[in-house]
Amino acid sequence: MSVKLIHRPRRLRRTEAMRRLVRETHVTADDLIYPMFVTHGSSEPIAAMPGISRLSLDDLCKEAAKAAEAGVPGILLFGIPAHKDEVGSEAYAEEGIIPRALRRLRREVGDALLLMADVCLCEYTSHGHCGILKHGRVDNDATLELLQQCAVAYAAAGADVVAPSDMMDGRVGAIRTALDDGGYTECAIMAYSAKYASAFYGPFREAAGSAPQFGDRRGYQMDPANAREAVREVALDLEEGADIVMVKPALPYLDVIRVVREVSEAPLAAYNVSGEYAMLKAASANGWIEEERAVKEVLHSIKRAGADIIITYHALEYLRSLQAG
Ligand code: PBG
Repeated sequence: MSVKLIHRPRRLRRTEAMRRLVRETHVTADDLIYPMFVTHGSSEPIAAMPGISRLSLDDLCKEAAKAAEAGVPGILLFGIPAHKDEVGSEAYAEEGIIPRALRRLRREVGDALLLMADVCLCEYTSHGHCGILKHGRVDNDATLELLQQCAVAYAAAGADVVAPSDMMDGRVGAIRTALDDGGYTECAIMAYSAKYASAFYGPFREAAGSAPQFGDRRGYQMDPANAREAVREVALDLEEGADIVMVKPALPYLDVIRVVREVSEAPLAAYNVSGEYAMLKAASANGWIEEERAVKEVLHSIKRAGADIIITYHALEYLRSLQAG
């Protein structure tokens, strides 16, 4: 007796040509931002992030040229300062690592790459918190003034985009005002709007030496249990003048990416963070998963969830694997 099936979805999966024809999601160079760490000294690999290093200014320029060649629209810079202090002075100093890197890159790569600079104090403070302290707590409004100074210093050094990741209330509006007052009306803001207090930042904190020396970041970063609150944070940032909003981390928050996509028409970035990268690298180093396929699957999941922009340490390797076919 023959079976009569009307629907046979497998027809559309038969050959690669057919699968290509009906593929819903594509992750290309245009979707990706490559995050990079820059230091005053010489380059050093980051143990928990195989393939990623803290880069000297010279190596940063070389690696940025590779990123431009691979076709990513932009890179996101994180600085490792020479000295840390209570108020994170190097974050907003004209000769700080980020302004120095921006000036060099602007000269060497021209307009081929968008230069994005993370705005936060945690890499620069001796206590490792994202703002300045008063009576052992992060003081929101006093921190805003320093974040304004960071943003203006980075715009003056050539940043196309500043990306506040500190999670202070009102920082997007404060930064927008400072940029406009300084004449940097064209510098865009990519706000880390829904940034969760996550365990997945571990390798980054090792890379930047930015783990808080006491307490944790739960007083300013979001509770992983909350999704509606992300919608509210995004709305506030857009009201304050954010050009691009972000959900971070990506993988444990794909539902949040989807919800934000549905309620807002602003470009949406998702940050595939250091811990997500490290997990995959560690498993593949052990031979437990196939790295190339896993990376592809991860990036597609983030795009499918609704992200327009994916910030990922996998960017260059992924694009190399695409080229290799
Ligand atoms: C700085 C900042 C962090 C990351 C981006 N900006 C670390 C943190 O909040 O502790 C994490 C990026 C990553 O893990 O890849 N505030």
